[in-house]
Amino acid sequence: MGHSAIQPDARRSKTGVELITYSIAMNNNLHQLRCIGCGAVISGAEAKPDFRCVQCGELFEVVYPGWGQRKGLDRPNPGALKWLWRERRCSSEEIDHSGVWRFRELLPILDSFGDVVTLREGNTPLYKLRRAAKALGIDQLYAKHQGMNPTGSFKDTGMTAALSVAKERGFKCVACASTGNTSAAMAAYAARAGLNSLVLIPDGKIAWGKLSQAMDYGSLTCQLKVDFDGCLKLLTEIVKEAPIYLLNSVNPYRLEGQKTPAFEIAEAFDWNVPDHLIVPGGNLGNSSALGKGFRELRDLGLVARLPKISVIQAEGANPLVRSFLDHQATALDPVEAHTRATAIRIGNPASWRKAVRVIQETGGWCLDVTEAEIAIAKAELGREGLGCEPASAVTLAGLKKLRAEGKVASSETVVLLLTGHTLKDADYTIGFHRGTLLEKDETVGYEKEIASLQRNAISVDATVAAVLSALKERVG
Ligand code: F0G
Repeated sequence: MGHSAIQPDARRSKTGVELITYSIAMNNNLHQLRCIGCGAVISGAEAKPDFRCVQCGELFEVVYPGWGQRKGLDRPNPGALKWLWRERRCSSEEIDHSGVWRFRELLPILDSFGDVVTLREGNTPLYKLRRAAKALGIDQLYAKHQGMNPTGSFKDTGMTAALSVAKERGFKCVACASTGNTSAAMAAYAARAGLNSLVLIPDGKIAWGKLSQAMDYGSLTCQLKVDFDGCLKLLTEIVKEAPIYLLNSVNPYRLEGQKTPAFEIAEAFDWNVPDHLIVPGGNLGNSSALGKGFRELRDLGLVARLPKISVIQAEGANPLVRSFLDHQATALDPVEAHTRATAIRIGNPASWRKAVRVIQETGGWCLDVTEAEIAIAKAELGREGLGCEPASAVTLAGLKKLRAEGKVASSETVVLLLTGHTLKDADYTIGFHRGTLLEKDETVGYEKEIASLQRNAISVDATVAAVLSALKERVG
């Protein structure tokens, strides 16, 4: 079974006997899929191409029945696992260089870890935000920058997991609907694995940086005259007709990879979780995955508690916020989504029930922010040297709102999850600095703040005096 990849660690380890026991106990591929609606449990191989439950139509989550049953001596030793995961960072094995697979004991979804498809994703930086912390009166504010992944977004952590499953199960073609980042990640990992890939994107509504990636990595990229939700709906029909493996976040293995930043965050805080994690919300796979990651750490005794997990949406693409307001999060009415943060331009999020569970279980919040608030927050993060996508900046905009509403105390440790790299959508950034991004009515009340952040490039004569004079005007 799938524990061969761990053996070098076990040989190296000071507590080798103990670790061999864990590897055998935890690395066997004994996962199952459990429906989050009716609780039906199936094996991984029984999942339908659209990953929906045949009984109730809901989504599945990966469960590991063995974990709950182990008691006493058989229970994984948290101290040994923490040691092993850290120690792997110094290993020379390719799989250990992945910030996803170095935690492989907690994602035993493959029969063999021998040929995982990896681009050395994960192990992303956790930056301290000093300026924003000061402005908000918070002592400890951090940004976990998932835009520092190989294709520039958090999707890589999920893609390495689900694409490795696709490869192991013998698929020759993979596909996704996307607002851009999923397609960039899928295209790259499919290319690494030698698989064909199909991308469905909404025509004209994705950032050029992302579209260029899908082309470069060799996907068949179809621009459709529907929105993201329409693309996903169509793809769901397509995978029922042809042997194509669906790699959207309805695929529960995607979330297994995307839960690992929770492990990295816990590790970075020496296994004392931060008080609050703030995440952007689009299709709501990521918030669901991170919640699952922290839940598993707690259930296995690796951390003592869960952080609050809050989800922030753009005001024009806020179906989850409305669900909380209108239905106490028991139902969700799809909306027609509009936001310049195109990554989260989603009106009918597939994983909304999973995200609701995470928000409610952790005591987090769900709220929305305006286009001006997103643009300002993005520029402020830029000023700290942390460029990100507009969709990522909703986290800082959301934190400001939560702080203003008294929902975050100054003593709390807060982590913002930045999901994408700033170069994904350079048009947005340039538009902001040139003053062409926002309409006048969107900026009412924010004019001064925006003006103080705008740094448009200026035309200057090619002389020493002219450049120095421009510099003097800027910095005094
Ligand atoms: N941030 C970025 C940069 C994204 O690309 C996405 C989603 C999200 C946040 C929201 O994450 O969907 O898990 O709630 N992008 C998807 C895509 C939909 O196709 O690239 P979510």
